[in-house]
Amino acid sequence: MGRLDDKVLLLTGAASGIGRASAIRAAREGARLFLTDVVAAGLEETAKRVTEQGAEVEFRAADISDEQQARASVAACVERFEKLDVLCNNAGIIAYERVHEMSLAFWRRILSVNLDGTFLMTREAIPHLLKTKGAIVNLGSTAGLSGLAYGSAYSASKGAIHAFTRAIAVEYAEEGLRANSICPASIQTGMSGTAKLPKAAKLELLNRLASLQGAAGPEVIADVVVFLASDEARFITGTEIRVDGAALA
Ligand SMILES: NC(=O)c1ccc[n+]([C@@H]2O[C@H](COP(=O)([O-])OP(=O)(O)OC[C@H]3O[C@@H](n4cnc5c(N)ncnc54)[C@H](O)[C@@H]3O)[C@@H](O)[C@H]2O)c1
Repeated sequence: MGRLDDKVLLLTGAASGIGRASAIRAAREGARLFLTDVVAAGLEETAKRVTEQGAEVEFRAADISDEQQARASVAACVERFEKLDVLCNNAGIIAYERVHEMSLAFWRRILSVNLDGTFLMTREAIPHLLKTKGAIVNLGSTAGLSGLAYGSAYSASKGAIHAFTRAIAVEYAEEGLRANSICPASIQTGMSGTAKLPKAAKLELLNRLASLQGAAGPEVIADVVVFLASDEARFITGTEIRVDGAALA
């Protein structure tokens, strides 16, 4: 018996990091998976690993911030598996810039992927999730609960995801749809290592949000994704779960 037996899970940002770890973990728990990402090669590799777990998987290269592509991803998932139980909005991007030096294009790019993308996928998925009394698991961040210096656009996008998620929880609770956010910190993935900081950035301002347990791998988040997606979390909705090694305790 797996925790996600018979469940169909659509996971965005599945080509790497937390998305890949969550796909593999969900596969071990019996889920059937529809995976999307903009990076086709990584997506294919994740799908291969999921198949090795014996799970059914379909994947599609798609940009969550594009309205047509978001719509097509959800439609393709439902066409393939004939239902949708869980949407995990995991895809996201980060970039650093001082606020007074930030272009509108920079701001909009972060908000467009992280927030618009989450909205678009959610809007398309809800009619199907209402039929299954399903669940939404959104990747927020400790940066959406506390200020991330130089990452204001990212912080704003994640804070908005938390608020969006709570609103969905309230709006659809009576209809049996749940929605929660996970707030990770200090997870070692491509995202945590590559973004360039502005010149003379003060590391102590960034370290405010660092885990007190040191860094962790994406599996610590994948475990929580699976829990929130499962029926074990049936009375948990409208909340943010920090998985941050006491960073904000
Ligand atoms: N790593 C951390 O410490 C950390 C902390 C807090 C929150 N998060 C959140 O966790 C989620 C996963 O991040 P990660 O750490 O695994 O990083 P990651 O960069 O490894 O994974 C993000 C994935 O999203 C994909 N993606 C980016 N833009 C996309 C788009 N427009 N459409 C579809 N896919 C797109 C990327 O190709 C990538 O595969 C993100 O939402 C991130 O903000 C991560």
